[in-house]
Amino acid sequence: MAGSIVWITGVSGGIGLALARCVPWENTRVIGISRTPVAGIEHIRADLADPSSWQALSLSFTEELRTFSGERIVFIHAAGTIDPIGFAGEVETAAYRANVILNCAAPQVLGHEFLHSVRNMGIRRDLVMLTSGASKTIYPGWSSYGAGKAAVDQWCRNAAQEQSIRGGTRILAVAPGIVDTAMQEKIRLVSEREFPRRAKFVQLHADGQLSDPIVVARRIWDLLDSDIDSGAVVDLRDLSGRQ
Ligand SMILES: NC(=O)c1ccc[n+]([C@@H]2O[C@H](COP(=O)([O-])OP(=O)(O)OC[C@H]3O[C@@H](n4cnc5c(N)ncnc54)[C@H](OP(=O)(O)O)[C@@H]3O)[C@@H](O)[C@H]2O)c1
Repeated sequence: MAGSIVWITGVSGGIGLALARCVPWENTRVIGISRTPVAGIEHIRADLADPSSWQALSLSFTEELRTFSGERIVFIHAAGTIDPIGFAGEVETAAYRANVILNCAAPQVLGHEFLHSVRNMGIRRDLVMLTSGASKTIYPGWSSYGAGKAAVDQWCRNAAQEQSIRGGTRILAVAPGIVDTAMQEKIRLVSEREFPRRAKFVQLHADGQLSDPIVVARRIWDLLDSDIDSGAVVDLRDLSGRQ
């Protein structure tokens, strides 16, 4: 029987996969969510840019927790997309809509579903959302990405305060820094016209400044065992030397 149960969206690549690969606790059941399955990881296939897929995850929360008798429950929402990179008013509408749904709506609704499922469980519960420095910094070409992450930050602050009144789930938004994943590859592949600040990211890559996803994942797990306050919006780059 599992001592901990962890759901991770975006499990098929980048930070989500790294998180699944280095869970620090023994006896943990990991359930991954993405469109692409991953060998060796229990998986729910879902296109989270399609709201009709969200029910599969909320059903999983309810079903698994009905009989769960371990001591820790975690939901990490890492799925996200930078596509379509380009200016609002110029990019393709279907891709823009999918970006808004995945980056902005899915975290809030899935976060709500998770809080609902764990509300009566008297054990440790953590909800972590992956955010980005782009929630505060303006990057032309990333309008819906930045707006989605800003929404994630504010949702986490707000819901965390609610949980301090009743509920008791700890909520964190974590900006991982610039991490060597497929998302960064996409950023380097677009034109300056679509993304005028592209050169900065090309240079950071050339200078070997991108973080390793496994190092980032370990730091996120460390945060869960730290005394950081619920509702914090944490940029891992600001925590250097703190842990
Ligand atoms: N990498 C960075 O430098 C960086 C910086 C700041 C913030 N972040 C944030 O960190 C998180 C992880 O980023 P990453 O760099 O690891 O990204 P990534 O390498 O591009 O991986 C994205 C993950 O999200 C999943 N995903 C994308 N669209 C999905 C959809 N419609 N439905 C379900 N799953 C979907 C992908 O799986 P499938 O394609 O199989 O569905 C994949 O597992 C994101 O929230 C991102 O915004 C990353």
